Amino acid sequence: MAVGKERRDFLGLALGGFTALGGVAALGAAKRTWDPLPSVKAAGFSEIDVANIPENQLVTEKWRGKPIFVLKKTKDMKKDARDIIIGKDRFFIAIGLCTHLGCIPSYFPDELKFKCACHGGQFDTAGRVLKSPPPIPLYIPPFKVKGTKVVLGEEGETYKKMKAAGLTV
Ligand code: FES
Repeated sequence: MAVGKERRDFLGLALGGFTALGGVAALGAAKRTWDPLPSVKAAGFSEIDVANIPENQLVTEKWRGKPIFVLKKTKDMKKDARDIIIGKDRFFIAIGLCTHLGCIPSYFPDELKFKCACHGGQFDTAGRVLKSPPPIPLYIPPFKVKGTKVVLGEEGETYKKMKAAGLTV
């Protein structure tokens, strides 16, 4: 009798184990259906809320695997057609890759400059070239302003105007 009970216990455990495995597999399959498609992930829309960004301190976010620079300008900083107005504030937003060979420049708030350590290139707070070898300004990514947020990956009116004016590509 004891052997029969042990056998039933073993079968019960085994069946329970299979059921649990089946449940985990089903959950995995369900998750795959509600995850964004790879194409949607690649499109990579992302939002940056700029409401609480301090002035003249570089914030670096990530979008489509690239660093995105967000710099809130002080009132004293030089105005530029590449400035992005959000509420009452001016921002500089750019892809943080040097347009020479793609290194990530560092921001020096006291000098109001971005400096690239790779070959000495420099950019101002609008991403314009101060010192070569970078051939062109830092790229402004496609963006749309939505309240206090910047939606990266969407072409809003301001971006379209900048692009039409040749301020970014
Ligand atoms: S990669 Fe920046 S100066 Fe060469």
